Amino acid sequence: MPLLQVAELRVALRTAAGAAEALRGVSFSLERGQTLGLIGESGCGKTMTALALMGLLPDGARVGGSIRFEQRELLGLDDAAMAAIRGDRIAMVFQEPMTALNPVHTIGAQVAEPLRLHRGLAARQARAEALRLLERVHLPDARRRLDAYPHQLSGGQRQRVGIAIALACEPDLLIADEPTTALDVTIQREVLDLLAELVADSGMAMLLVSHDLGVMARSVGRIAVMYAGQIVEEGPTPAVFERLAHPYTRALFAARPRLGLPRGTRLATIAGRVPALGEQPAGCAFAERCGWATAECRRSPPPPRPAGSDHVVRCIRVDAMGAGR
Ligand SMILES: Nc1ncnc2c1ncn2[C@@H]1O[C@H](COP(=O)(O)OP(=O)(O)OP(=O)(O)O)[C@@H](O)[C@H]1O
Ligand code: SF4
Ligand SMILES: [Mg+2]
Repeated sequence: MPLLQVAELRVALRTAAGAAEALRGVSFSLERGQTLGLIGESGCGKTMTALALMGLLPDGARVGGSIRFEQRELLGLDDAAMAAIRGDRIAMVFQEPMTALNPVHTIGAQVAEPLRLHRGLAARQARAEALRLLERVHLPDARRRLDAYPHQLSGGQRQRVGIAIALACEPDLLIADEPTTALDVTIQREVLDLLAELVADSGMAMLLVSHDLGVMARSVGRIAVMYAGQIVEEGPTPAVFERLAHPYTRALFAARPRLGLPRGTRLATIAGRVPALGEQPAGCAFAERCGWATAECRRSPPPPRPAGSDHVVRCIRVDAMGAGR
């Protein structure tokens, strides 16, 4: 059994126009030690997937399908049971570390808190363990920083603290939602390399959310491409990059930012926009933006089909397109 098995996950949110589905049957699984990257444009449902795993969906959200973690069904657990899993077995690193840190408590106290709460360590032990964790995430001058406040640290240092807090209980699954977008490029690299190192050393699984293909290529073993609340392509990272089987993956690839472009150069974007919540069409959700679309694409949603070994794609024309860029 995989560590995490998500099957046909559906999330309907309350909107001004009534309930609308933000996730429309998301399925994937993760083994221990495996890393999966979720990629897609803004609004595709990446954060909603992460929040569903954490049991932190917005008020009034309706959830369907299944999330099995260590063989236990998480959907339907009460708040207390979910809170016990969160921060202990499943931990999350947020996009903007300042939102995850409390400005009025010291770094040391905040790293020590989950150790006292979930692992029952006494104050002195928790402080010693907090120091070990801050050194583990390579926070410079960690001993002195135990008594510092978040505003005394740089953005990259704060993200290291956020990662230390997430690691405090040695989670089995780490979810990182755009953990580097608030940081400058060199610091982004360092934080991603740190995450990769921690995953390799600890054997935990990681779900990394990003809209940056370059980040994915370096950091994860498998990629899931999301579009309009569904996974439209999933497979081993090298296979996905080699084949670019789904027209949407191909469009993301063509629109990726490239290193070395002069500042201010306009980047290619994908023409058209992601369908708004509640406006998903009857057939393929990408049809309006897809150069390969036919009338058949618009009739019914494309089911997942194989695009190679352990590689699936939701596109009925995948064979006609062939491999390539
Ligand atoms: N609290 C909410 N209430 C209603 N709709 C929401 C809420 N949060 C998100 N949505 C909508 O749900 C959809 C999925 O959003 P989600 O935040 O998962 O996107 P995302 O892929 O993480 O995008 P981004 O790259 O911008 O972070 C979007 O259409 C978004 O507008
Ligand atoms: S199913 Fe049709 S519209 Fe959808 S991505 Fe494939 S070719 Fe394009
Ligand atoms: Mg998001």
